[in-house]
Amino acid sequence: MFLDSLNSKINERKALTVWGKEMAVAGQAARESGKILKDLFGKITSIGKKGEIDLVTEADLLSDKIIVEIIGGIFPRDSILTEESGESGRDSGRQWIVDPLDGTTNFVHSFPFFAVSIALRVHNEVVLGVVYNPVTDEYFEALKGEGAFLNKGPIRVSQTGDLKESLMATGFPYSVYKEPGSIIELFKRMIVRAQGVRRPGAASIDLCYVASGRLDGFWEEGLQPWDTAAGSIIVMEAGGIVSDYKGEAYSPFQKSIVAANPIIHPKMVELTSSAL
Ligand code: IPD
Ligand code: CA
Ligand code: CA
Repeated sequence: MFLDSLNSKINERKALTVWGKEMAVAGQAARESGKILKDLFGKITSIGKKGEIDLVTEADLLSDKIIVEIIGGIFPRDSILTEESGESGRDSGRQWIVDPLDGTTNFVHSFPFFAVSIALRVHNEVVLGVVYNPVTDEYFEALKGEGAFLNKGPIRVSQTGDLKESLMATGFPYSVYKEPGSIIELFKRMIVRAQGVRRPGAASIDLCYVASGRLDGFWEEGLQPWDTAAGSIIVMEAGGIVSDYKGEAYSPFQKSIVAANPIIHPKMVELTSSAL
């Protein structure tokens, strides 16, 4: 049953694009793991700590496992980098980058804002990304050169040009309690200029909200490749710009990120470039 539906999705996609099979598998993995997260939401019994305020639950681990099983089962030669199981598989120039539960702190507190994030990087370029929020059943996806979509409908970044009219989001690294100084300073610079600033707690969804125009810009430092790889291609395919705090082009391994519509982006970089 599961395989039949996967095969029909693969065939549907194959006809559409060169990455059709990969896109269908990423989608299936995101939806299967999303189901697990939704089922466990509000019922978590085992909470571990990876750091002072960095949590991990059975939901993170189960979601990770099912994604690795689905992707690894179909693409055994690809490497898979996930937040919970590190890197597996050999380096064939194709690497899946997976956050099995983005927004763990929200999840633990029954705050319904979290997602599964899956990207594929081929020879150093992210070629596809999917972000699935199982609570709202919102499925964001993008393929290089083919635009960005929310539940199959095309999305675009906003056209807001003035910081005073923009709604922004940010997030804080788990190390924030050690050295909050420069992070708070940058937050202050933004909040006095923006119409509003939010801290929703799942970077992958924050990026998708920029892509769909719900937010005008997003910035954060200390993120990992699995937090940003899928969301970033979704922003870029929706017409947005993604860079680091200095304005350098996006890479999943950079430690800071600014994502925004093309008018707001340089205005944000003016404020972030002296922050690190
Ligand atoms: C976290 C979320 C959060 C961001 C943190 C991330 P996790 O991911 O994306 O919004 O501020 O920096 O680490 O740990 O919930 O997967
Ligand atoms: Ca994350
Ligand atoms: Ca995570």
